[in-house]
Amino acid sequence: EIIPIIMAGGAGTRLWPVSRDTMPKQFISLLEGGESTFQATIRRVTGADFGRPIVITSNDFRFICAEQLAAIGVEADIVLEPERKDSAPAVAVGAVLAKARNEAAVCLALAADHLIRDAAAFVADARTAARLAKDGRIMTLGIRPSEPSTEYGYVRVGAESIGDNAYVLDAFVEKPDRATAERYLAEGYVWNSGNFAFSAGAMLEELTRLAPAVVEAAEAAVQKSVRDLDFIRLDPAAFAAAPKISIDYAVMEKTARAGVLFAAFDWSDIGSWGSLHAVKPQDAAGNVLEGDAAVLDTTHSLVRSEGMLTTVVGLSDVVVVATHDAVLVADRRRAASVKDLVTKLKAEK
Ligand code: GDD
Ligand code: MG
Repeated sequence: EIIPIIMAGGAGTRLWPVSRDTMPKQFISLLEGGESTFQATIRRVTGADFGRPIVITSNDFRFICAEQLAAIGVEADIVLEPERKDSAPAVAVGAVLAKARNEAAVCLALAADHLIRDAAAFVADARTAARLAKDGRIMTLGIRPSEPSTEYGYVRVGAESIGDNAYVLDAFVEKPDRATAERYLAEGYVWNSGNFAFSAGAMLEELTRLAPAVVEAAEAAVQKSVRDLDFIRLDPAAFAAAPKISIDYAVMEKTARAGVLFAAFDWSDIGSWGSLHAVKPQDAAGNVLEGDAAVLDTTHSLVRSEGMLTTVVGLSDVVVVATHDAVLVADRRRAASVKDLVTKLKAEK
């Protein structure tokens, strides 16, 4: 039985104005049928191979998280972080809880903000990665890169095979600069998908060696946690002592026990409105229209409205997103710059 650990406490800004500090990317209904990527992530791991999921999120998101779980009829332990400490403390807390359930627990730590359509291929890979992780390897699911993005972790695949499509991991570099990413692409590196399989014991051992303060804080925060209903409230003082660091920097860049399995499933992390446009079903003119939206003589555009009727005439390659209190109009190919826009808006406030 694989224990899913869902990392669902991040804050996304690149899908502004829909994604906000109060409503981050993983909980937005982006998928067909109004589902969020958090819900889709959980639903992929509800089959016979998996145990009760451990969801780790911010205290601020407890209601939206519980509501979205209830809507898909899934029960989970919902662990609440009193403050944002990035993914390493979340993974540590998950591993501590999984190990308390079962000393030999094998976990699958999943990002909650990815789009994966082929659930069967995903589950098959998850099982393979979990099997390879049993004896202490920390496995990442690797993705063949399509561009020299600076938003991902890059994995140098070792020569030593550890199974079908699986190799030891030679090196891991989180978010390299553009020139380095271009070199990595030419040299055959793969992207880290941000989904990992490991035994709880091995992960805690590596964290203890490489980032001991993370484990100390996680253990204390769990030990002094308070359970109410489905919520596990981590102790604020204990959790505050955790350094703010991602699992990529804390463990993956440094461990010598990592492996990589080439993912057989399709994958997108929906980093921007542009990438959402790319993965969504488009009409004959290449448009994606969501909500109360209409266009005339418009091509290759995304128009999304959360209320008011939103229309576009005679434009190509635009993103228009209207919410009740903000409207974004952008060049589709520059949609990733929304992140910089949000930084600017915050600075001017
Ligand atoms: N519980 C909790 N608490 N979860 C968090 C926190 C936190 O403080 N911060 C982030 N997360 C969750 C996010 O919600 C997301 O599901 C996951 O952890 C990854 O965090 P991101 O902030 O989205 O990371 P990233 O996209 O910059 O980079 C990661 O993902 C890439 C692939 O999308 C890295 O793992 C990269 O190496 C990887 O390529
Ligand atoms: Mg992400």
